[in-house]
Amino acid sequence: MSDDIVLQTKGLKKHFPITRGIVFQSKVGAVQAVDGVDLELKRGETLGIVGESGCGKSTLARLLVGLETPTSGSINVRGQDMTKLRGSELRRARRNIQMVLQDPYTSLNPRMTVGDIIGEPFEIHTDVAPKSDRKRRVRDLLDLVGLNPDHINRYPHQFSGGQRQRIGIARALALRPEIIVCDEPVSALDVSIQAQVINLLEQLQDELGLSYIFIAHDLSVVRHIADRVSVMYLGRVVETGRDLEIYEQPTHPYTQALLSAVPVPDPTLRGHRDQIVLEGDVPSPANPPSGCRFRTRCWKAQQKCADEDPMLTLRPKSAHPSACHFAEVRDVVHAVD
Ligand SMILES: Nc1ncnc2c1ncn2[C@@H]1O[C@H](COP(=O)(O)OP(=O)(O)OP(=O)(O)O)[C@@H](O)[C@H]1O
Ligand code: SF4
Ligand SMILES: [Mg+2]
Repeated sequence: MSDDIVLQTKGLKKHFPITRGIVFQSKVGAVQAVDGVDLELKRGETLGIVGESGCGKSTLARLLVGLETPTSGSINVRGQDMTKLRGSELRRARRNIQMVLQDPYTSLNPRMTVGDIIGEPFEIHTDVAPKSDRKRRVRDLLDLVGLNPDHINRYPHQFSGGQRQRIGIARALALRPEIIVCDEPVSALDVSIQAQVINLLEQLQDELGLSYIFIAHDLSVVRHIADRVSVMYLGRVVETGRDLEIYEQPTHPYTQALLSAVPVPDPTLRGHRDQIVLEGDVPSPANPPSGCRFRTRCWKAQQKCADEDPMLTLRPKSAHPSACHFAEVRDVVHAVD
């Protein structure tokens, strides 16, 4: 693992068992929520992860921060495999990777003051800051995220949605992590507030040298902040590349369909796009299709797609990795002069 890679996963899987029976539960299947994800995150970089509801984004996020145990695969943070660490070693390594959640309304305990919420990580990791210094640190964190340090004794309901998300970000920063996993951090906010929170995240990234995994269900939110993007479908990454490669030269049919559904803010581009309407529902992750998981909704599907599982790799007509046997660029949103 090279020095500038702060996080790397290999073959990461999370299968949730499906059981039957009340007293003697027997396993009758598994929900393949995350099924073999390889990703790399460089220092100071933002990797966007996009995909429809249920494709495994939150499960992946929870695996990365240690809230779920992988079924198999590895999670390397600065060269240490988190899946092999135990006890105090694991606790110390986990400090380095923190999470910001989607819903600032439900993710903050309404009965705790903001000071106690942001300072809670210091109670768990007692060696990070001496007790006498914690209040000052919390005030500094409030200031860092653009909130008034004098509001340290207020409760979450006394803040707006955007301010509550700032509280969530301050809390994630308390242990001075290098990596932050943001799971739909702006999806619950008004559009005008979304931009402010994204700007704050970018500013903090520059100031503190943070690396982000930034999860969203649509490509337009990720476009502003991500350096690279991975597109997920049914527990797997189907295409990955630099942001322009994904937006301007998508080669996987699923990415092309997602892009065709993204609202285009530039009026000159409106009406100059392919409309790709996906047929059918997302199959159940408990019973995914054979071969390519996208084949039941893909207009290019052929027999090979049912017989052979396409790996995420460079393809003859794709300059970046794509998990499609027939990957080729399709210009979904056309620019006009
Ligand atoms: N604890 C669990 N037990 C069983 N199945 C689960 C569990 N957590 C998630 N799943 C299933 O795993 C799949 C992936 O869920 P996940 O929440 O990771 O998707 P997501 O991409 O974050 O979706 P959304 O965009 O709606 O947040 C879904 O089918 C979900 O029902
Ligand atoms: S492998 Fe086949 S089914 Fe899958 S995306 Fe490519 S063409 Fe479609
Ligand atoms: Mg989710």
